[in-house]
Amino acid sequence: MKIRFWFIGILILFFQKSTFARKHSLKSISEIRSSTHNLELITLLNVINQRKRSIIAFVKDRYGDQFCIKQYRADNPKVHFRVVREVLASHVAVAAKIPVSRARVIPPCVAFRGKFLKGRPATLHTFVFGEPIKNVDMFPQNFQLKQCWEPYLTQRGLTRSIIQSMSVHPVLPAIVAFDTFVSNTDRGISNLFYDQKHNTFIGIDHEMSWRRPYDTNLSELAYANMCKLCKNGLLTLTNKELKALKLFNKKLKELIRANPPEKLCKLTDDLIAQIDFSKDKFSIEAYKFFDVEGYINKFKHRIFQQYDSAQKLVRLLDTLLT
Ligand SMILES: Nc1ncnc2c1ncn2[C@@H]1O[C@H](COP(=O)(O)OP(=O)(O)O)[C@@H](O)[C@H]1O
Ligand SMILES: [Mg+2]
Repeated sequence: MKIRFWFIGILILFFQKSTFARKHSLKSISEIRSSTHNLELITLLNVINQRKRSIIAFVKDRYGDQFCIKQYRADNPKVHFRVVREVLASHVAVAAKIPVSRARVIPPCVAFRGKFLKGRPATLHTFVFGEPIKNVDMFPQNFQLKQCWEPYLTQRGLTRSIIQSMSVHPVLPAIVAFDTFVSNTDRGISNLFYDQKHNTFIGIDHEMSWRRPYDTNLSELAYANMCKLCKNGLLTLTNKELKALKLFNKKLKELIRANPPEKLCKLTDDLIAQIDFSKDKFSIEAYKFFDVEGYINKFKHRIFQQYDSAQKLVRLLDTLLT
């Protein structure tokens, strides 16, 4: 009797594990990519075509798993490079077990159901269930996690209000730490989903990462804010906020450890190769006068700079939080 019970238990565990592994191991994404010549296995479910910047398509593979394909309307090197930012950032988050949509490159030359603009790169994302938080009214009124606003606003970086917001759920400090590490300035209320069924948050849309708008980076902003908070004797965080800040610091350290800039630059090169980011491959006019190499070098320089800033930030937080 006992043996039968154990046998059934192990069988259930095995099946649960294999379904889980298939859904979460990226296997379905690589399968969907390898089946690009087998487009009949992919069903187009829906297309959002009225967006100004991008076309979003939803597809389903033969397992019934859903994906989302994103393509930008504009056709120039900087826009093509967003694919690199998006996929690199997603890779960093997924490796650190931070809940975001997983992204892959669909190279320009690859035909894919739901990819409408031929000869241009696109991104393929795992479908995120739930609702963008702008449609969910169960969070506090000033709940928001976007760390970078227009330059004339003083409330930028990791503010008290963001610390307060990220203390609402244990997964949020990790998402904010990820945004800070990659300098994702676009964690608006449309780019954070809440899945009520599993009570979790999931991030999407990371194309603004390592972009340094307004000549700033999120770790530097957070550093300046933390210094101000201390100098003015205002480090009067509640226990809940303090706990969230500690989780933020812990996750930021993990991200630093796992992503040395040299590794990220190497990954960048791999992604660049996938999008054919070079003058010879694209015949469009915009590439003729574009310094491809200079652009890539600046991007890599920013990876190094932001990495240093993140290290500086954790050193400060370590002293503040002990
Ligand atoms: N992985 C995804 N899962 C489900 N919906 C998505 C996903 N990615 C994008 N969407 C939907 O498409 C919209 C636009 O996608 P987003 O990546 O935010 O593009 P944009 O850069 O144009 O803001 C999102 O607000 C969301 O409704
Ligand atoms: Mg968006």
